[in-house]
Amino acid sequence: MLAGKRILLIIGGGVAAFKAPDLIRRLRERGASVTPVLTAAGAEFVTPLTISAVAGERVHNALFDLTTEAEMGHIQLSRSADLVVVAPATADLMAKMAQGLANDLASTLLLATDTPVLIAPAMNVRMWDHPATQRNLATLKSDGIAMVGPNEGSMACGEYGPGRMSEPLEIVAAIEAHFTAGPLTGKRVLVTSGPTHEPIDPVRYIANRSSGAQGTAIARALAALGAEVVFVTGPASVPPPSGVQVVKVETAKEMLEAVQAALPVDAAVFAAAVADWRVASASGSKIKKVKGALPTLEFAENPDILATVSQMQTGRPGLVVGFAAETDDVVAHATAKRQRKGCDWIVANDVSPATGIMGGTENAVILISDDGAEEWPRMGKDAVAARLAERVAGALA
Ligand code: C5P
Repeated sequence: MLAGKRILLIIGGGVAAFKAPDLIRRLRERGASVTPVLTAAGAEFVTPLTISAVAGERVHNALFDLTTEAEMGHIQLSRSADLVVVAPATADLMAKMAQGLANDLASTLLLATDTPVLIAPAMNVRMWDHPATQRNLATLKSDGIAMVGPNEGSMACGEYGPGRMSEPLEIVAAIEAHFTAGPLTGKRVLVTSGPTHEPIDPVRYIANRSSGAQGTAIARALAALGAEVVFVTGPASVPPPSGVQVVKVETAKEMLEAVQAALPVDAAVFAAAVADWRVASASGSKIKKVKGALPTLEFAENPDILATVSQMQTGRPGLVVGFAAETDDVVAHATAKRQRKGCDWIVANDVSPATGIMGGTENAVILISDDGAEEWPRMGKDAVAARLAERVAGALA
């Protein structure tokens, strides 16, 4: 089941590190290769010799190991794996991950990687329950980090509660589930997200309030169903999910070019809030403030990326999904927009300030397709994303 899979295993400094050799053995039995990384604290609980003997590979344990840097930089080390597993993931390692610290090899690898990450937390029950850990946990979840456990039970410190690391076989099962084919395995899906920035001059730009939260959640949900996701994002305020191909752009024109370069795809979801206009001739140098003289900006129309792709004569994606943010007559406007743009579905929502949807964590959408308008209950943006991903999977099946 795990044949040929390359796992980078980061072993943190907790008593549960004693389970690491067993975990490595079971992963190798199933055909995976394991590259072990031992933190300094981890080496207090389990020796590098034990780990390298079981893994059949050398243990990496120093950031400034110059030979390793020359042979295989730490960035390479993190990216050549199919999955990064952190077990045990201590409170300290989780805090470092949530904050983006990079002050030893393990944390640097975690910050440098674009590979999916699975953590198996292990810590004392009070440390687990502490608001700081729970805050970090929420951050890690929203960053798309997968998690197995912790279990509830008695601990090495004599206390009882949640915080025990999952057993090696449970971690193996979570790793296998990660690699199991989903309904979108083998499908390539494009997602646009975030705002665009349209320059006025080298320092000023025109933008909108899109955070990129809904587009990011959709990309993550599609990837979770096994899709190969190309995520074309403008300057969003939430980080892109892990495990997807991220293409960062600034302007609508750049977004169109990135979208065209990503084709062909099986489905495309256009969640970006693309600026409708750009400044016709952005100044190459900063426009000086001259007292009494106001600058005049002339606008040019931006390309409509959704309409361009929807109306492609050849190579059109099998399913094209657009979004419509409206403040009144949502269904009527969104239905007309679907016709005008030529897309298959429109995900419409009411963004009047009273709904609190713009910039919030919840969304209430209406899916408009050939079958008419289907109103979904108000739910979290992650839940909307999961439901939309299921529908995309159904349509491509
Ligand atoms: O026309 P409007 O901006 O309301 O349409 C919204 C939909 O069109 C969204 O799916 C958005 O991503 C897409 N769009 C686009 N390119 C534009 C403008 C909007 O892809 N220039």
